[in-house]
Order: sequence, then structure tokens, then C-alpha cells
Amino acid sequence: MGMQFPRLTPLQSRFAATFTATLFLVLLYLIFSSPRFAYAADIPSSIAETDHNHPISIGSLSDGIGEERIWLELGDFDDVLEEDETPDQAIVRRAPVGVTALGNNQFKQDNIKPGETQFYVFPKEAVAGPKSPKPKGLPPFEPAPNDDSDQDVDFHELKRRDGDLEKRSTTVYISMTTCSQPSANKSDPNSGDIPPQLQVFLSRSESLQKPGPSVDNSSQTQYDANGGYVGVPMQADGDVYLSVSAPNATGFSGIYTYEIAASIDDYFHSVVEDDPFLYWVDGDINAALLVTNNVTESASDSENYKQWMNITPPYTVFASNINDTSILGMQKSYCALNQLAQIRKSSNNVEVGMTNRGLGNKPKEQFYITGLNRSSTYYGILAMDGNSTSSGNGIIGGGGRVWQPMNFSTKADDNCAVLFNLTFCSEVAYAVPANPSLNVAELTNIYDSYAASLYKNFSYSLQQVQCNASTDSAYSLAVGCDDCAAAYKQWLCSVTIPRCADFSNDASFLRVRNAAQPFLNGTQIPSNNPLVQSPVESRSRNPLIDSEIRPGPYKEILPCQDLCWDLVRNCPSVLQFSCPVGQALNASYGYRDPNGDITCSYLGAAYYLNHSWSLHSGVLVSVYTLAIFWTVFWAFV
Ligand SMILES: *[C@@H]1O[C@H](CO)[C@@H](O)[C@H](O)[C@H]1NC(C)=O
Ligand SMILES: *[C@@H]1O[C@H](CO)[C@@H](O)[C@H](O)[C@H]1NC(C)=O
Ligand SMILES: *[C@@H]1O[C@H](CO)[C@@H](O)[C@H](O)[C@H]1NC(C)=O
Ligand SMILES: *[C@@H]1O[C@H](CO)[C@@H](O)[C@H](O)[C@H]1NC(C)=O
Ligand SMILES: *[C@@H]1O[C@H](CO)[C@@H](O)[C@H](O)[C@H]1NC(C)=O
Ligand SMILES: *[C@@H]1O[C@H](CO)[C@@H](O)[C@H](O)[C@H]1NC(C)=O
Ligand SMILES: *[C@@H]1O[C@H](CO)[C@@H](O)[C@H](O)[C@H]1NC(C)=O
Ligand SMILES: *[C@@H]1O[C@H](CO)[C@@H](O)[C@H](O)[C@H]1NC(C)=O
Ligand SMILES: *[C@@H]1O[C@H](CO)[C@@H](O)[C@H](O)[C@H]1NC(C)=O
Ligand SMILES: *[C@@H]1O[C@H](CO)[C@@H](O)[C@H](O)[C@H]1NC(C)=O
Ligand SMILES: *[C@@H]1O[C@H](CO)[C@@H](O)[C@H](O)[C@H]1NC(C)=O
Ligand SMILES: *[C@@H]1O[C@H](CO)[C@@H](O)[C@H](O)[C@H]1NC(C)=O
Repeated sequence: MGMQFPRLTPLQSRFAATFTATLFLVLLYLIFSSPRFAYAADIPSSIAETDHNHPISIGSLSDGIGEERIWLELGDFDDVLEEDETPDQAIVRRAPVGVTALGNNQFKQDNIKPGETQFYVFPKEAVAGPKSPKPKGLPPFEPAPNDDSDQDVDFHELKRRDGDLEKRSTTVYISMTTCSQPSANKSDPNSGDIPPQLQVFLSRSESLQKPGPSVDNSSQTQYDANGGYVGVPMQADGDVYLSVSAPNATGFSGIYTYEIAASIDDYFHSVVEDDPFLYWVDGDINAALLVTNNVTESASDSENYKQWMNITPPYTVFASNINDTSILGMQKSYCALNQLAQIRKSSNNVEVGMTNRGLGNKPKEQFYITGLNRSSTYYGILAMDGNSTSSGNGIIGGGGRVWQPMNFSTKADDNCAVLFNLTFCSEVAYAVPANPSLNVAELTNIYDSYAASLYKNFSYSLQQVQCNASTDSAYSLAVGCDDCAAAYKQWLCSVTIPRCADFSNDASFLRVRNAAQPFLNGTQIPSNNPLVQSPVESRSRNPLIDSEIRPGPYKEILPCQDLCWDLVRNCPSVLQFSCPVGQALNASYGYRDPNGDITCSYLGAAYYLNHSWSLHSGVLVSVYTLAIFWTVFWAFV
């Protein structure tokens, strides 16, 4: 027999079972109370070793209006935050009644009735919080390659260095925009056009946590909105208390809505005060072409230039009739324009693109706006939705940017149409004599193919000239055939594709054309009228217009004299180009306006470019013209 088990009495066996169970429980207890199994394993040592004074809890309470407001209290978590995590995403705590906390680059939108004030705080933990990583941004503006001014200093770097000097305090950018406002009560005689502007009150004092119009205290600052916008930079090292207040608006009914934001990175909403950055190129009865200023001046073979030409168009444009009062008082507010402007992104009648058309051939964005009314003047406002690629909460500059308004007008008559994007005369972008029965593509084709065919004949002639021969037989040391070809193209496109103005426009620099043809509505200028009898004014400069387009009588902005002089100066004399003189010159060509009005036509023209223009000297005059130019020169003889 093997090993023998002792026989146990029933009492003994009961004891053994109890003992085993007890031992098991004791073992279990020891296992689970062992420090090796505690949650501490998940806590980083930095927290375990740091004393945290900031209690962590979550709560909210009603401010009495039934709306929940939350107070943010932020732990000293800089050392444990991930790169892309902001402190205000972390913790939330109970707050004073009626005060809303703002997070960095987190806007709040609210309604406010006239006479009300609403309170906010940008807490000191957000003020001292880490700045957001600097986004990529648009490609920089680079000055022209030969421009030696110091424009390429990185201002962001300068700012950063300044910031380091002012050790403890941080610049807090506070911005408020009005998104809608009470409307005038037409039946109230006291009502003006625009209700009073919202006000922002700021305080850095712990003893003034609710700044506002009813507090008379030197520790608050008041800012009245201008055009629906307040932007204030403020040095702070603690809580920033702010309020938005709506003044009483007698004679107006309705409420205001607004957005408010604070940021330690940059303005969430921003305004460019002194520059529209937008130019009017031309318009017809229901469309207008606008361009931004040059977005860069860099050379066309540079990386920067290519980046700009290939970018998704970053700007947007708003337009409203100057008689439309809905945006008045809010023209500096992106959110207001985006809801109220007659022409806006969502109205789907703005076509955008990058182009290098225009003087200097630098990149710019163009806007072709349709759906406009005839004989009207519009405010045009350049803007950017957020930072151009993203908008809204958490984005630096996510509330949009608005430039200063400019204005432009539409035409009265249906026989001028804005043309651009031509294949050959690629620099043409203005209203040309037109007929509503022709669509834009047909019109483009008539003008562009005619100019291209004239150019072809010219280039045959130019090939007879010894352009690329050795310097002593070439016609000039200073200019070559390429200069001649370029000057010819400029001149040819301006002359064969005239710039059109309303027949009813009585500006002195305009010439009547095609007076012998009936108007589009069928009426005709009496045949005894001197306009109809004049060889110059009864027809168009380019006979193709009268025969193929039939625009009826219109007015022309004459090409600039310097286009002719450039042609003569740049081309070999054997081609025998000449400019008319005296009366004939003034009858065929116009003068540039030193103030930037378009009083003569040149390619790349836009209104009020402030282009300081000096006439070239060295005019060469001969009385012969080449036979192939007869068709376009006939008006001079
Ligand atoms: C606005 O109107 C209310 C009621 O008429 C009045 O109590 C209050 O003082 C007014 N506020 C201001 C700033 O005038
Ligand atoms: C806009 O902001 C987003 C998010 O911060 C960023 O990824 C993007 O690069 C920014 N766009 C520009 C043009 O800076
Ligand atoms: C507009 O003004 C008239 C006259 O003052 C007043 O009777 C009316 O109630 C006002 N309407 C609104 C909507 O405020
Ligand atoms: C104004 O603020 C100071 C502290 O900045 C405080 O001592 C004082 O009582 C306040 N006065 C009023 C009228 O609120
Ligand atoms: C706009 O206002 C001007 C002057 O107030 C007026 O002459 C013009 O007819 C108005 N235009 C429209 C379209 O209402
Ligand atoms: C004009 O040309 C640009 C660049 O080729 C293009 O993006 C845009 O759509 C064109 N616009 C029209 C109206 O053809
Ligand atoms: C762009 O730059 C050229 C010079 O390179 C200048 O003549 C022109 O006025 C600038 N602006 C526009 C909108 O063309
Ligand atoms: C055009 O005129 C009509 C009638 O006056 C007006 O309702 C409309 O808002 C105007 N549109 C624009 C874009 O000016
Ligand atoms: C349009 O802009 C021009 C130039 O800035 C200015 O002289 C003119 O008064 C403006 N017209 C209107 C109606 O605002
Ligand atoms: C170009 O020259 C040819 C031959 O001289 C002529 O027949 C043709 O009409 C010319 N084209 C134009 C557009 O003048
Ligand atoms: C002159 O030569 C250049 C390069 O060799 C060429 O691109 C150009 O077309 C020539 N010009 C003429 C008018 O033949
Ligand atoms: C026809 O149009 C012209 C120019 O727009 C205008 O002067 C003339 O009064 C119009 N005639 C009629 C009958 O409408």
C-alpha cells in the first residue's frame, strides 16, 4: 500500500475546509493590497512628484437665464501636455454666476438685447498657457529681386524677441465682431440708418470681474466697435475680465448677435484698416472684374512665384450695393458680411482664380462677379475665411480677416461686356464693344483670332529684319526683335480690342464710335447729326466690330499714346512704324491720368493703382506706315 491519509472525524474535516478558505482569503488580500498592483503604474513621474494646487473637478451652473455657463480652471499641466493639446481642452471647474470663460482661439457667439451686458473671462491659465504651434501660413510676400529695401524681415520673429523681453506678461489679442444688429424702425421718426455700435469693456483687476457701462471705475477700459469690430492687444499676466455691452437703441427693433474671442497667438478676427488690397479692373451691366494687389513681387522663375500661382485662391470677396443698408455699421465684420452682403461666397456668383495678368505680371487673385444690377455702385470688400484653409474654433485667425472697402460701378448700356482670359491677347481684361446676342466665348473668339491673325502677318515682316544677326548688322544695340514683338503685341491688342464705355458717359476723354449704326433697341441717331457724318465717330476703329459684332453706338477709351511711342522706339525703322502727330494724335490716342483714373487704355489697367508713371522720352516720328497696318491705322488718316 502507498501513502496513507489519516482518517478525519467530521469535525476535523469541517475545520480543514474553513482553514483552507481563510488562507485563500488572506492570500487574496495580500495580493490586492500589494503596491505593485496599484494604479500608480499609469501616472507619469512628473505628476507624482509635482504638488498640484489646482483641484480638478467638473461642474456647471445656471446663471439664471437658463443657459449653462462653465468656468475653466486649468492645472499647471504644461509639462505633461502633448504637443497639440491645449490646456483649456483639459479641465473645467465651477465659476462665478454669469461669467463665461474663453479658451485660447475659442470664440463664443451670443445674442444680446439693447441695454444688456454679458461677461467673459480669459483665465490666467490660458494667458500663461503654451502658444499654439505656428501654422504654415500663406507663401510670403517677397520683394522684387532688385529691390534692396529691407522688406523681408520676419516680423513674427521680431514679435517673439520682444515677447521674451517682457518676461512675465503676454500679449492677449481680444476681438469682437457684430454679426447682426437691430434694424431701423421705419415708422419711428427718431430712427437713423445705423444702430449704435456694441461696446467692449476690459479689466485686469480681480476686484472688477464684471466690467461694464454701469461701473464707474478707473480699472476698466471701454472700446466702442467701429464698423462692427473691436480688436485690442493687451499685456496681461493674470485673468482678463471682459464684457460685451449693447447700448440702448431707440428707434431700432431687434437684437444684436456677436462673436468674441481671445488669443495669445494672434487676433482671432482681424481687420486691415488702411488698404483695400483690391482693385477694380472693369465692369459691364451685370458683372465686374476685380483683382487683388500683387501677392508677391518675386521673379517669375522663383519657387515663391510658383507657389503663389499654384495656390488654391486664398481670398474671397464681398460686395453690396452702396444703397443697401444691411451691412452698414458692420462692414469690418466677417460674420456679418458672410450673412448679409448681397454678393458673398455662398451666393455662388463669384468666380475666382490666380492670375499673373497686369503690370509687372506678378501673381494676384482675380474675382469675376456676376449677378450685379446695372448703373449701380457697389462696395467691394476683400476678405479671408479663417486662415484661408481652415476656420472656426481652435484655428489661429479662425474668425476671418476683412480689408478696407473700395467701390466699383456697373455700366448702363448692354453693348459693353467684360472680357478676360483671352488666349492670344492674354493681357486684355476690360469691357469691349459687344452685343447681347453673342455669348462671351463667341465674342472672345472674334476679337482674339482677329488680333492673332494680324500679329501673324507682322511676325512674317519681322522675320525679314536681321534681328539675330551679329550686333553691327542688328538694328539696335539697346533693343532687339523680341522687344519689338512685345511692344507690337501690346499696341495691337489695345488698338484692335477697344475699351468700351457707355454712350451716355460724358467724360471728356471718351470718343464716340459707330454712331451710324442703330442702338441695340433699334433707335438711330439722326443722319444729320455730326457724329453720324464724322468719318472717325460714325465707325469703329476696327471695322470687324461694326460688321461682326454690331454693338451700335458706344464710346471708346482711347489707347494710351505711350503704347504707340513704345512701338516706334522698340521696332526697327525699316518697319516704318509711326505715330500720328498733333490733332491726329489726340484723336486716336489718350493721355494717362497721374491720379490713377483710367483715361486711356493700356493692358493691365486697373483703377487707382497709384502707379507713378513717367512718359518715355525719345519719340521717333516718320510719316509712313506699313500697308499691313492699314486696317487698324485708318482712323488716324
Ligand atoms: C437703457 O434703458 C433702460 C430702460 O429704459 C435704462 O434703465 C438704462 O439705464 C438704459 N441704459 C443706458 C446705458 O442708457
Ligand atoms: C490654417 O490652420 C490649420 C490648423 O491650424 C493649419 O493646418 C493650416 O496650415 C493653416 N493654414 C494656413 C494657410 O496657415
Ligand atoms: C416702431 O416705432 C413706432 C413709433 O415710435 C412704434 O409705435 C412701434 O411699436 C415701433 N415698432 C417696433 C417693432 O419697435
Ligand atoms: C474700483 O476698483 C478698486 C480696485 O481696483 C476698488 O478698490 C474700488 O472699490 C472700486 N470702486 C468702485 C466704485 O467700484
Ligand atoms: C442709390 O442712391 C442714389 C443716391 O442716394 C440714387 O441716386 C440711386 O438711384 C440709388 N440707386 C438704386 C439702385 O437705388
Ligand atoms: C480664367 O483663367 C483661369 C486660369 O486659367 C481659370 O482658373 C479661370 O477659371 C478662367 N476663368 C474663366 C471665366 O474662364
Ligand atoms: C504690381 O506690381 C507692378 C510692378 O511690378 C505695379 O506696377 C502694379 O501697380 C502692382 N499692382 C497691381 C495690382 O498690378
Ligand atoms: C438688384 O435690384 C433689385 C431691385 O432693386 C434688388 O432687389 C436686388 O437686391 C439688387 N441686387 C443687387 C446685387 O444689387
Ligand atoms: C468710390 O471710391 C473713390 C475712390 O476711393 C471715392 O473718391 C468715391 O467717393 C467713392 N464713391 C462712393 C460712392 O463711395
Ligand atoms: C495677312 O496678310 C495676307 C497676305 O498679305 C492678307 O491676305 C491678309 O488679309 C492679312 N491678314 C490680315 C488680318 O490683315
Ligand atoms: C532670335 O533668337 C531667339 C533665340 O535664339 C529666338 O527665340 C527668337 O525667336 C529669334 N527672333 C526672331 C525674330 O527670329
Ligand atoms: C435706346 O437706347 C439709347 C442708348 O441706350 C437711348 O439713348 C435711347 O433713349 C433708347 N431709345 C428708346 C426708345 O428706348
